[in-house]
Amino acid sequence: MCGIVGYVGDRTALPFLIDGLKKLEYRGYDSAGVAMVDGNSALVEKCEGRIQALEERLLHNHIEGKVGIGHTRWATHGKPSDTNAHPHTDCAGEIAVVHNGIIENYARIREFLQKRGHVFRSETDTEVMPHLIEHYYEGNLEKAVQRAAKDLHGSYAMAVVSTKEPDKIVAVRNLSPLIVGLGQGENYLASDIPALLNHTRETIVLEDGEMAVITRDSVRVLSLSGEEREKNTFFVPWDPVQAERGGYPHFMLKEIHEQPGALSETLRGRLSPDGRVVLTEMTMTEAEALAINRVFLVACGTAFHAGMVGKYFIERIVGIPAEVDLASEFRYRNPVITPGSLLVVVSQSGETADTLAALREGKARGCRVIAITNVVGSSVAREADDVIYTWAGPEIAVASTKAYTTQVEALSLLALYIAQMRGHMDIYQLNEYVMHLRMLPRKAQETLERCAPVQELARELAAHDDVFFIGRGVDYASALEGQLKLKEISYIHAEAYAAGELKHGTLALITENVPVIALATQKEVLEKMISNITEVRARGARVIIITADGLEGLDEYSSSIIRVPDTHPLLMPVLTAIPQQLLAYYAAVYRGCDVDKPRNLAKSVTVE
Ligand code: F6R
Repeated sequence: MCGIVGYVGDRTALPFLIDGLKKLEYRGYDSAGVAMVDGNSALVEKCEGRIQALEERLLHNHIEGKVGIGHTRWATHGKPSDTNAHPHTDCAGEIAVVHNGIIENYARIREFLQKRGHVFRSETDTEVMPHLIEHYYEGNLEKAVQRAAKDLHGSYAMAVVSTKEPDKIVAVRNLSPLIVGLGQGENYLASDIPALLNHTRETIVLEDGEMAVITRDSVRVLSLSGEEREKNTFFVPWDPVQAERGGYPHFMLKEIHEQPGALSETLRGRLSPDGRVVLTEMTMTEAEALAINRVFLVACGTAFHAGMVGKYFIERIVGIPAEVDLASEFRYRNPVITPGSLLVVVSQSGETADTLAALREGKARGCRVIAITNVVGSSVAREADDVIYTWAGPEIAVASTKAYTTQVEALSLLALYIAQMRGHMDIYQLNEYVMHLRMLPRKAQETLERCAPVQELARELAAHDDVFFIGRGVDYASALEGQLKLKEISYIHAEAYAAGELKHGTLALITENVPVIALATQKEVLEKMISNITEVRARGARVIIITADGLEGLDEYSSSIIRVPDTHPLLMPVLTAIPQQLLAYYAAVYRGCDVDKPRNLAKSVTVE
């Protein structure tokens, strides 16, 4: 998704803008650009393609200014091109704007402005913004931006510079994140924390409907009606080193290897010596926990797969019915929400537009909301009633790895916590779960150490066009996650099925040598799984089994077998995710794909 950066200070803005844009590359983009204010005009350079292409342009057309904005665009309105890249300017070339999100009523505004003589150059929705600000400008940029913002419908974050007031950036947040970074004699703006980390960890997080006026020495935050707002400074807990590759060829590989540490950080302080779960951050009372009669788990993509595992935790551990929904479906399907419904939203970024909309829908209908997120101060964290953070550190690769495994872990903590409050579990059962959780980081490390053969298997997979994944129970959720990982980074077509479902249609696609990855970690359905494996083998499939220590009798059914250490059956998705992530990673490497920045995808999907 698009990224915004901004700089106001004593130095030339360009180095910060380029460094910041590079830190946002992981969000996915197809073009990039910068604008700096110098004298009478806003100097703009922008182009389709990578930031490197922008840097090459800047070598030939060096532009300078101490106030500047930059952008990485992920095309929504109009194809990726030099003209459609941001920043966009007004007719006079004096006002430059970068924008994340979508302006839903741009066509009407464009028509209105065209009738008044404004000339448009791009196909974008964004271009209405500088022209609208130009239209309203009467000697005060702040007021013109406020006036323009009132006309705009949709989700957006924008940053504006103008040669008429060359000492400032004016920025507005509406349903798309923006953070102001506070420096010494300089201040910064970014749509995502990693862009700031090399420069400051002191920030101000803007709320929806807020505007920031940023100069070298001051940051004022106002509502769109112009009232000044008091804002707290927020210290970002991430270390800048965490957002670097640290010797790994790709962020994804680094993040896969960070999982033992991330799992252990997410547990830190949350398991008591007497084997109970401690979530001091939760404000839910015992009465509220007792009143829960149904749980909705809502998320997108990988986080949705974590939610699927969460459904098993809630039903098996707490004994309450649970439903898992894709966030993009939840808000439009008119779910039956009754008193006692609990909504759990899961989101690495905490900014996914569909998840945020689902959270708001749930709240509006009276649900208590718990957010599981990795980003402190993110929108879902601020809007939920309670937050359980996954302490995975920054996840830069587009494909989610450590966020997923820590989400599963956090969901298990939540289920145990609620069960504990409701007195649903006896202390022995609780202690057993807690013991398995304590050992999970070490077992994740052991799983990584056992994964050397995965690289060779990935080389074989890389030569195929179709791969199938099957599993039962939580293994089905793991299979879904495995296939998503493979297809999103290696572009191999992959599909996951509940193993018992194949014979209802998909078995027709299983032919000689088609790879089938069978997850078989659930003892209670092992025989059924073996039958399903036999079905695909009978059609010539090449079966790779992922199973756990202690489950015998599978070797004869597989071409290759990967064993993870034994753990609680419900926690298996944490361990089986690891070989699947590595399979996807190496398959993508063998196919020469851009692993960290797969085509067409964005890290944080802030549009619906
Ligand atoms: C896949 C992936 C996505 C995200 C999804 C939700 O590897 O990363 O499917 O899981 O876009 O993102 P968050 O968790 O930020 O809400």
